[in-house]
Amino acid sequence: MTRVVYCNGPFGWPHSTTWMGPIQDTIRSHCPALRPAHYTHVKATGPDHMNPEVRSFHHQDTFTWSHVVVDAASRHAAIIDPALDFDPVTGQIETASAQRLLEYIETTALQVDWILETHVHADHLTAAAWLKDRLGAAGTSPRIGIGRGVLTVQRTFKQKLDLGDEFAADGREFDALFDDGAEITIGNLSGRAMSTPGHTADSLSYLFGNTAFIGDTLFAPRSGSARCDFPGGDAQVLFDSIQRLYALPDATRVFLAHDYPPEGEAPLAETSIAAQKAGNIHVRAGATASDFVEMRKARDATLGMPRLFWPSIQTNLLGGRFPPANAQGQSYLKMPLGGEALESLQLKPAP
Ligand SMILES: [Fe+2]
Repeated sequence: MTRVVYCNGPFGWPHSTTWMGPIQDTIRSHCPALRPAHYTHVKATGPDHMNPEVRSFHHQDTFTWSHVVVDAASRHAAIIDPALDFDPVTGQIETASAQRLLEYIETTALQVDWILETHVHADHLTAAAWLKDRLGAAGTSPRIGIGRGVLTVQRTFKQKLDLGDEFAADGREFDALFDDGAEITIGNLSGRAMSTPGHTADSLSYLFGNTAFIGDTLFAPRSGSARCDFPGGDAQVLFDSIQRLYALPDATRVFLAHDYPPEGEAPLAETSIAAQKAGNIHVRAGATASDFVEMRKARDATLGMPRLFWPSIQTNLLGGRFPPANAQGQSYLKMPLGGEALESLQLKPAP
């Protein structure tokens, strides 16, 4: 039987070849610079494991793509970047969108091993905790994972939101904090985390077979790249992360976290490394870091605050849970106030 070998050696990932003989001979001949230390990362799989199934769900209110990646042979799966429905005017939180994911999981008889966040999003509230609870009640126990950089994001916003000592900012809300290169298994499908910061400090891409879930590292080619002006963002760092993605094979299927289509066009969930390198309006292959950083800084200076910034950050820092309720069962979100009039309007203590 023809099988495929892949590894995360020095030539990028996945680095694949047909495996006919002893695995280490094949790797040495195809990948001569591979050091023995890399052998621990070598995986041999059937062809299906290079081509996982992916089903994408569009969250219209926030232009978010949520994805379900499936190991077809075992029917195990991971959910990536699920969204809650939130009305910032009324404070109402609904789950119709997350329910669609759940229905898909149930009707296709999937077992969810992971709920994965590409980063602490600033534009939608994550449904990770809600899905974990629902799936847990149904007898499975998915784990919520995010990049270890979430610790930096938690510390930053603990201070900005004055969250107090009850918020430990030690990542305890998540079941796994991934470092660059961390292995993540879905059934028999072995993938890995790739650190891709720049948009945020914790941004991470997930690689499974020939698929990459890149969060906001890049948008669709016609839309370019994500802003880098949030706390912890850095355009030079994002440029370097994009170069890491561009080192993946051209045929890698690239799944987006958002799409903002022009009027009359359908949102795009999937593109490829080749399409990004050839046509991304902000960073084609061969673009210079200085041009990118200059463009990004000029563009970021024109962007307003995302509509759901404070509710999203505060919820997503907690993996999709909400601050503890008071004695009446009411939970609250905070936002820091500012503006020229703040000082003169602040209530003074009674004399
Ligand atoms: Fe984002």
